Amino acid sequence: MRTQVGIVGSGPSGLLLSQLLHLQGVETVILERRSRAYVEGRVRAGVLEQGTVDLLNEAAVGERMRREGLVHHGIHISLDGRLHRIDFQALVGSAVTVYGQTEVTKDLIEARLATGAEIVFEVDNVTVHGFDGARPKIRFGQDGRRRELACDFIAGCDGSHGVCRQSVPQAALTTHERVYPFAWLGMLVEAPPVADELIYAWHERGFALFSMRSPTRSRLYIQCTPDEHLDEWLDDRVFDELRLRLGGQTAERLQTGRCLEKGITPMRSFVAEPMRFGRLFLAGDAAHIVPPTGAKGLNLAVADVRVLARALAAFYTSGRSDLLDAYSATCLRRVWKAQRFSWWMTSLLHRFPGRNPYDDRVQRAEIEYVVGSRAAQQALAENYVGLPFEETG
Ligand code: FAD
Ligand code: PHB
Repeated sequence: MRTQVGIVGSGPSGLLLSQLLHLQGVETVILERRSRAYVEGRVRAGVLEQGTVDLLNEAAVGERMRREGLVHHGIHISLDGRLHRIDFQALVGSAVTVYGQTEVTKDLIEARLATGAEIVFEVDNVTVHGFDGARPKIRFGQDGRRRELACDFIAGCDGSHGVCRQSVPQAALTTHERVYPFAWLGMLVEAPPVADELIYAWHERGFALFSMRSPTRSRLYIQCTPDEHLDEWLDDRVFDELRLRLGGQTAERLQTGRCLEKGITPMRSFVAEPMRFGRLFLAGDAAHIVPPTGAKGLNLAVADVRVLARALAAFYTSGRSDLLDAYSATCLRRVWKAQRFSWWMTSLLHRFPGRNPYDDRVQRAEIEYVVGSRAAQQALAENYVGLPFEETG
């Protein structure tokens, strides 16, 4: 088996890379460990920056997103049960679109398969070879047989626990990590949203986030400890806790509904540098993780892929390798800014157990500063809607 770019992982990074390269006439094969149904059902991110929306449109996968996505011109910050609106439109003239990662993934898979693209689901024991030379190979198991995919380049789009980053010699990689002393319990419910925009709530019991997927589906998150057991969180307990943390009229209006999914996500910041080793390129969660408070994970993955697709297309159409050489540094400039913002939003809004009371007072002063200062709100808004893409090539 042979292709131009062998892609490991069919999350948003791998799928979008494959779609963008296809539009440039570059062939790809995607190898994915899970089944199509599993990949399409995995509930994760929900907020798309305008740059992400534009790129999905450019990639000809934006039709349903344009119809069903909810355009939000701001968010609310809740403090002591009072809502403070951050008006993105007035502050930075931009907006975000609420459209689930599950839907982005379904749209991309459908578009790829419609053109006859090869996505091999349910492969096992993927290993990557020869990426320090000119002839990389990916070996994998399929239906009990060992197979080999020869390619010019390997794209490691296989998420934070994937095989690609782990295959890079340790000495060639610097990793940076911060682990937070809390996690998020997330629940997707069949209930209309309590507000028309997202609510990020600070509360002394811990952070809460009210989000949504559609006019009939809400996505709820509450801060919990990383070792919490899901079976201790029956639906009613989650609703009660969310009501307490939202407070005020929002709590009174909160509607309950059938739970469609529930899970716990630990909070972590992580970056591996550089993002390229010879002919292996890492993109998305394979290279970096952010805590979800800034809604940046999926958007950063898309930004990496935009840079990589352009660099690979330039290589195939005009033999240029300067954009491939610049890939890691170009991506990392944006990655570190998103790391900073995600760390800041997380630090601003969560309770840190056992912390010095002085730090808690400073945190409260900072939230009061943000909700009271146009300058601070503008900085938040500018980062939340997404920093501009750097032009390459
Ligand atoms: P992934 O989506 O992780 O895709 C990687 C793919 O590679 C997967 O399909 C995986 O099955 C496959 N794979 C892994 N290993 C192998 C292997 N060895 N061989 C073959 N295939 C392999 N971001 C937000 O902005 N907001 C959120 O609320 C949010 N919630 C999240 C909750 C969870 C539990 C997780 C894990 C992430 C969350 N994120 C969130 C982050 C966001 O979902 C990711 O940034 C985004 O999915 C990155 O896309 P990706 O394609 O790079 O990686
Ligand atoms: C979500 O809707 O899943 C979501 C929204 C905003 C975030 C994180 C997750 O910051």
